[in-house]
Amino acid sequence: MLLEVRDLKKHFRVGGGLLQAGGTVRAVDGLGFSVDVGETVALVGESGCGKTTIAKMVLMLERPTEGAILFEGRDLAGLSGADLKAYRRHVQAVFQDPYASLNPRLRVRTIIAEPILAHERPDRAALRRRVEEVLDVVGLPATAADLFPHEFSGGQRQRIAIARALAVNPRCIVLDEPISALDVSIRAQILNLLADIQERFRLAYLIIAHDLALVEHFSTRVGVMYLGNMVEAGPTEEVFARPRHPYTQALLASVPRPDPDHRPPLDAIRGEIASALAPPPGCKFHPRCPRAVERCAIEPPAWRSLGRGHAGACHLAEAT
Ligand SMILES: Nc1ncnc2c1ncn2[C@@H]1O[C@H](COP(=O)(O)OP(=O)(O)OP(=O)(O)O)[C@@H](O)[C@H]1O
Ligand SMILES: [Mg+2]
Repeated sequence: MLLEVRDLKKHFRVGGGLLQAGGTVRAVDGLGFSVDVGETVALVGESGCGKTTIAKMVLMLERPTEGAILFEGRDLAGLSGADLKAYRRHVQAVFQDPYASLNPRLRVRTIIAEPILAHERPDRAALRRRVEEVLDVVGLPATAADLFPHEFSGGQRQRIAIARALAVNPRCIVLDEPISALDVSIRAQILNLLADIQERFRLAYLIIAHDLALVEHFSTRVGVMYLGNMVEAGPTEEVFARPRHPYTQALLASVPRPDPDHRPPLDAIRGEIASALAPPPGCKFHPRCPRAVERCAIEPPAWRSLGRGHAGACHLAEAT
């Protein structure tokens, strides 16, 4: 196993003024998943369910409140010195917005060289070769190295962000909504590029997205999140063909499909997503669940196997 997340939590203290009580945002509220060498695992869920918070913890930009993240079996919390540096090299990131993630004042050459120089001391010629090599891998000419980010389109900028991530030969790239800020017409190109690179360098991807169609075609396994918890996880094909959790079913039903044999959609998901600041008791999804029974409002459902490699947390999942 390359990456493993166990019972991870991130709680943020917020507010708390002179006249107002503070609160705790339970952004990530106890969930686990794993990513194998060379595979693509997706996390999906509506806005605010905690996806980016997980990415930040995996990237060590946020410290978990509880739980553990293991890389090749070793807890990140115990890494230091060369091991910590190696982890930072092995796990890279590509974010949603290539406009915000590339420093506008630096030339592309410097942007790509930065992570390389954090880990190695190549001579000028070797550094130059390495930068031009990764630009070539992402389909940009060597001349791109001398330009600034604003001289490129959104798709080209995302290629630069991918080149920067690749420059240090990572084992895993965290992709947080990597195409959702891009023009629809170029999304497929970036996805194809990511797929090519994955095969060529045997990369693992942890992809975070709210776009189900993207997840369905791009990931091998998927975890569906709701308000900081995983509600269902399993092989992507299986979860999409036979969703077991009412939330997954509602999410899938909300995607328009041309397939006439597709099961009739459930009612659109009722109500607003609840707040991570004051999540409902019991199953957090119960106020919006079309099938909720009394028990769902009281008892948080345990994580259990649902057969065919699925697992999930629903009191009624056995009955579906
Ligand atoms: N630094 C912070 N302080 C307080 N609350 C935070 C902080 N970061 C995130 N949150 C809250 O944690 C919850 C999860 O946020 P997160 O950004 O992880 O969601 P997300 O699934 O990535 O959403 P989106 O799809 O909109 O990107 C939200 O309620 C958010 O407001
Ligand atoms: Mg996010």
